[in-house]
Amino acid sequence: MEHPQATAAGFPVIRPRRLRATPAMRRMVRETRLHADQLILPLFAVDGHGVEQPIASLKGQSRLSPDLLAQRAAEAYADGVPAVLLFGVSDVKDDVASVAYDPDGAVQRAIAAVKDRVPEMCVITDVCLCAYMSHGHCGVLGDDGVIDNDPSLELLARAAVSHAQAGADVVAPSDMMDGRVAAIRAALDADGLTGTSIMSYSTKYASAFYGPFRDAAGSAPGFGDRSGYQMDPANSREAVRETLLDVAEGADMVMVKPAATYLDVIRDVRGATGLPLAAYHVSGEYAMITAAAERGWLDERRAALETLTAITRAGADLVITYYAHQAARWLSEEGS
Ligand code: PBG
Repeated sequence: MEHPQATAAGFPVIRPRRLRATPAMRRMVRETRLHADQLILPLFAVDGHGVEQPIASLKGQSRLSPDLLAQRAAEAYADGVPAVLLFGVSDVKDDVASVAYDPDGAVQRAIAAVKDRVPEMCVITDVCLCAYMSHGHCGVLGDDGVIDNDPSLELLARAAVSHAQAGADVVAPSDMMDGRVAAIRAALDADGLTGTSIMSYSTKYASAFYGPFRDAAGSAPGFGDRSGYQMDPANSREAVRETLLDVAEGADMVMVKPAATYLDVIRDVRGATGLPLAAYHVSGEYAMITAAAERGWLDERRAALETLTAITRAGADLVITYYAHQAARWLSEEGS
C-alpha cells in the first residue's frame, strides 16, 4: 500500500534524518571541521614590564607588556594555537607615526619576546599607522584634509621592515592604501627580508564592528571616518578586485574582514584565488557574543564555535579571533 505521505521527492524511501541519528554518524558526515591549526590569536602590546591592562569591551583580553604577552602566546601555543597577530598600542602619537617603525616600540619588543620564548610559534604583525598618528587615521594626512595615499606607503613599508627585523614571520598591512603590498614587498626584499610573508588585509570594510578594538588600541579617528580608504560594506565585486590586485602585488595570503557579516564575500574571494584565505572575526563580533552570554541570552561556547564553523564553511582557511585560545581548548575537549 502506498505510504499516505508519499512525495515525488522520494519520501518515505529517502529520509535525511538517518544521517543525523547518532553522534558517530554526525561526525562521519560532517562537512566542515574547525581545528586549532586554523586559529590566530590577536594580542595587544604595550610598553613596560609586568603590565596587564584588561580591556573592558573585550572580555578576557588585555593590553600586555612584552614579557606577559610572550607568556600569553606560549600558553596559547601549548593549547594548539599556531599563530598570534600582534598590535602595538602607544600614547606617543605624531604626524608621521614615528613609533610605528621604532625598533624599541612595544610591538617590536613583543615580537622579539615571543620569538625568544616560543620560537616555533608563527608571529604575524598588524602593519598600520592609526595607533601612532595624532589624528588616528591609517595614513598621512594631506593639506586638503584627505588621507594621502602615496606618502603613506613609505611609512607603512618602514613599519613592516621594523617588524620583520624584530623577527616577525608574517606582516599584515591593514591600512587599505593602494599599492601597499608592492611597496612593502619591495622594502622587505631590499632589506634582505625575502623570507618574510605578507598577509594582506585585502578586503577590509569600513565597519561599525571595529568599535571595541579602537578602544583597546586607542586608534579611533580624531575626525571623519575611514570610508575614504576602507571598503563600502555594500560591495562584493570590489572585494574580488581588491583581492586580485593584492595577489598581483605579491601577497602570500589574503583576508576578508569582518567575517561573520561577510560570509558571502568570503565565499566569493575563496572562488577567486587559491591563496590561503584568512577571515577576521573582529572585536565587535566577539563583543556581541560575550555581551549576550553575560546576560544569559546565549550559550557562549556553542554560539562561538557555531560562528567560527560558519566562517570556515564559507571558505576561510584561517580565522583570526579573540576566541582562538578558548576555542582551541573547547575543540580538544570535544575530541574533534
Ligand atoms: C588597524 C586595525 C583595525 C582593526 C585591525 N587593524 C581598526 C580599524 O581599522 O579601525 C580592527 C580589529 C577588530 O575590530 O578586532 N587599522
